[in-house]
Amino acid sequence: MQIQRLSPNFGAEVHAIDLNQISDEQFAQIEKAFLDHQLLVFKKQALSPAAQIDFSRRFGELDVHVLTQYNHPQHEEIFVLSNVVENGKPIGISDGGSYWHSDFAFQERPASATILNAQQIPEQGGQTLFIDMYQAYEDLSQEYKQRLQGLQAIHRYRSRRSNQEAGTQVKLNQDQEKATPDMVHPVVRTHVQTGRKALFVHPGMAAEIVGLSEQESNEILSFLFDHSTQEKYQYAFSWTPGDVVMWDNRCTMHKATTRDLPAHMHRTIFRTTVRGERPV
Ligand code: SIN
Repeated sequence: MQIQRLSPNFGAEVHAIDLNQISDEQFAQIEKAFLDHQLLVFKKQALSPAAQIDFSRRFGELDVHVLTQYNHPQHEEIFVLSNVVENGKPIGISDGGSYWHSDFAFQERPASATILNAQQIPEQGGQTLFIDMYQAYEDLSQEYKQRLQGLQAIHRYRSRRSNQEAGTQVKLNQDQEKATPDMVHPVVRTHVQTGRKALFVHPGMAAEIVGLSEQESNEILSFLFDHSTQEKYQYAFSWTPGDVVMWDNRCTMHKATTRDLPAHMHRTIFRTTVRGERPV
């Protein structure tokens, strides 16, 4: 197994590995690389849905997405990201995650890892963009870091902050609304495995800072969103079929670009999500 960096800050490609059959020793190496690089790419894999679930479970318990209509018909742990329509019915969510976010940040225990397994990829477009939230935090001034100390933010599924990007256009039913109440998490979280601090507020979901006036809350969130989404913290990944990509939601955020694809350019990706710990 060889590991090659994808960008100066974060992300790495793992070569010479078949995720269908990894030994405990290889798993330990992958886990270390995951913590060191935050984003891992495995090319030319052929993972069946069951094998994707098995691989993902090695990192912890899997979460099932509340938008159950887009879960794989035979494997509820797989959330289908797709703009394909079959017999008049979408086979997956067509605009899933097309805004900056961290998976399941609106839950009490947000995702630690997300694993994506590319099924069908268009000739062009459909990239996923990633941001290094360790670096975005580390680059803040000492004064600003102090200002953020102890602050908590409200995370809201489909946040409607007026100056931010729109969330998914999918309408939640009553049960789904009930299952996604507002959730409070620290603005800066400490990664339980690496001990490093990272920003944990995302333009698509962080709605306000607890206990501050609307003006001060908006001022801080707008500053953090502008700061963290600078190009210098970004890495854009271009997919090919068979790619498996995994990232650490505790210290990155990401954004799909599927919403920009013309309807005839088909993209289908299977997603599994590992439940993380309560952020501290
Ligand atoms: C996601 O936000 O989990 C999906 C990312 C993508 O489809 O590129």
